[in-house]
Amino acid sequence: MARFLLIVLILLCSLSSRIESSSNAGGTKQLRFNRKKGEFKILQVADMHYADGRKTPCEDVLPKQIAHCTDLNTSVFINRMIQAEKPDLIVFTGDNIFGFDATDAVASMNAAFAPAIASGIPWAAVLGNHDQESTLSRKGVMKYIVGMKHTLSQFNPGGFDVIDGFGNYNLEVHGVEGSGFMNKSILNLYFLDSGDYSTVPSIPGYGWIKPSQQFWFQQTSKKLRKSFKAPGLAYFHIPLPEYANFDKSNFTGVRQEGISSASVNSGFFTTLVGAGDVKAVFTGHDHINDFCGELTGIHLCYAGGFGYHAYGKAGWSRRARVVAVSLEKGSHGDWGAVKSIKTWKRLDDKKLTAIDGQVLWSQHSSGSRRKKPIPRV
Ligand SMILES: *[C@@H]1O[C@H](CO)[C@@H](O)[C@H](O)[C@H]1NC(C)=O
Ligand SMILES: *[C@@H]1O[C@H](CO)[C@@H](O)[C@H](O)[C@H]1NC(C)=O
Ligand SMILES: *[C@@H]1O[C@H](CO)[C@@H](O)[C@H](O)[C@H]1NC(C)=O
Repeated sequence: MARFLLIVLILLCSLSSRIESSSNAGGTKQLRFNRKKGEFKILQVADMHYADGRKTPCEDVLPKQIAHCTDLNTSVFINRMIQAEKPDLIVFTGDNIFGFDATDAVASMNAAFAPAIASGIPWAAVLGNHDQESTLSRKGVMKYIVGMKHTLSQFNPGGFDVIDGFGNYNLEVHGVEGSGFMNKSILNLYFLDSGDYSTVPSIPGYGWIKPSQQFWFQQTSKKLRKSFKAPGLAYFHIPLPEYANFDKSNFTGVRQEGISSASVNSGFFTTLVGAGDVKAVFTGHDHINDFCGELTGIHLCYAGGFGYHAYGKAGWSRRARVVAVSLEKGSHGDWGAVKSIKTWKRLDDKKLTAIDGQVLWSQHSSGSRRKKPIPRV
C-alpha cells in the first residue's frame, strides 16, 4: 500500500512539475508571490513595434541619435529593465510587432520576445492593432505566441464557444508557498484583446472590447471572487473612452496626445466597476501619454511607449511601467493577502530613472475606511 502511494505520489509530482514547466498548452495558471519579499512585480512593455531588428531604424529620436539606433535598442532596453527590476511577470500590451514593416511575423516575434524568453521569467502578451499586418493573421499571431517558450499567454478561454478576439485569458497569482494563502489566488490578472479596427462600416476607428469578452470577464471574476475577494488588474492595448476623463489636476504623468480609444463606448469600464475586483487597468497604444488617473475607484493607466521603431517624441525617453503588489504580514510573521498595489515608470536613460511613483490601491484605504463609524459633530 505504502509503495503504491509512493508511486502515485511520484507520478503526481512529475505530472505537476511538467504542467508547471509547460505553461502554455492550457496548463498552469499558477503564479506565486515571492516568499522573501512578500511581493509580486509586473513589468509592462507597451508598443515595442518590433520589425526587422538591426535593419529597422528608430523613429522620433534626436538627429544625433538616428545613425546608431534600430530595433536592437528596444531589445537592449528590455534587458536593462529585466536586470533592474527582476520582475515576476512581463506583460506585453500589444503592438509587440509593427507588422507593416516586419518582413516575417514569426522572425519579428522571435526577436521581439527573445529577451523575455532568455530571462526565463514568465511572460504574457495581448495583441494591439498592428500585430497582424505582416505575414500572419491575428489568429495566427496569437496561436504562435501561445506556443513560445516561458509564456503564460493563452489563445482563448476554454468553455466559451463564442468569444471575440484572440488572447482573452486570466492568470491567478497564489499566496506565498507554505502560507495560509498558498492555495488561493490573491491577485487576479485579466488579459483581453481590445481588437484592431472597427469592422462595422458605420462606426469608424479602432476596435473595442465586445459583449462576449465582457461576459467572459464577468463570469471569471464572479467565480474567482466566490473563493476569495482578491484585487485584480486588467491588461489590454487600446485605452477605454474613460481615459479622456482626466486632466493635469487629477492624473500622475503626462498627456501629450489625444486618447485614441474606439469611437463608441462598449461599456467595459462599467462592467469593471460592477464586478468590483479590478483596481487598475493598463494599456498602451498612445505612446506619448503615460499617465494614471483614478475614476470611481479604478485607476486607468498608460505605460508610455517602449519601442524605438514606434512613434514617440524626440528627447522624451522611451519608458516602461512597473507594478509591485505587496502582501501584509500576519502577527506570526507569515505572509497574508494583498496589502497594497504600487506603480512607477522607468525611463530609458543612463540610470533608468524611476519616476511618478504612486499607490494604486491599498487594503486599508479602501476596506477599513467604510467600516469606521461616521464621527458626530
Ligand atoms: C542605440 O544603441 C546604440 C548601440 O548600443 C547606442 O550607441 C545608441 O546610443 C542607442 N540609441 C538610443 C537612442 O538609445
Ligand atoms: C494547500 O494544498 C496542499 C496540497 O493539496 C496541501 O498540502 C496544503 O495543506 C494546502 N494548504 C493550505 C493552507 O490550504
Ligand atoms: C478631473 O478634473 C477636471 C477639472 O479640472 C474634471 O472636469 C474631471 O471630471 C476630473 N476627473 C476626474 C476623474 O475626477
